[in-house]
Amino acid sequence: MWDNSGQVVSHIGIVTREATLDGASIRIGGIGRVMTSPKAQGQGYASAALRHAAAFFDECSVAFALLVCRQDLVPFYTRLGWESFNGTLLVEQPGGTVPFTANEPMVLPVRGKAPREGTIDLRGLPW
Ligand SMILES: CC(C)(COP(=O)(O)OP(=O)(O)OC[C@H]1O[C@@H](n2cnc3c(N)ncnc32)[C@H](O)[C@@H]1OP(=O)(O)O)[C@@H](O)C(=O)NCCC(=O)NCCS
Repeated sequence: MWDNSGQVVSHIGIVTREATLDGASIRIGGIGRVMTSPKAQGQGYASAALRHAAAFFDECSVAFALLVCRQDLVPFYTRLGWESFNGTLLVEQPGGTVPFTANEPMVLPVRGKAPREGTIDLRGLPW
């Protein structure tokens, strides 16, 4: 996102991934690297970028989207329609496939319901 003077003030990363949900292939969206310049924080930039991402995911026909965040940011994402995922999130690491436990996984319904439990395997590195 840019401000009125053309300065980059906020960034989010957007990916799509062929994952599995409880063993079944499913195309999901992903958000990462959410960051707003300190001087531009609190002005709605990240919220606006996340709403754009949700619209983009809808165009991509993904079933749902996923992100991981710090515990203190769960209320921020909840206000934007994201829901806590309480199941198991599997990711690839150099030693093999392992549960991701470093941060809070959250999901956003897009073309379908977002799962609140079960096993999501990203079938690759986390983003
Ligand atoms: C989190 C972050 C991306 C929000 O960007 P932003 O453009 O300021 O977001 P918005 O203006 O749309 O929304 C601001 C809201 O974010 C929430 N928020 C921001 N930082 C927070 C924190 N550390 N703890 C809890 N909530 C936080 C608040 O609800 C805030 O609302 P408020 O201004 O009324 O207090 C920004 O603070 C940032 O870059 N932080 C450092 C990097 C980071 O933590 N990224 C998130 C990785 S998941």
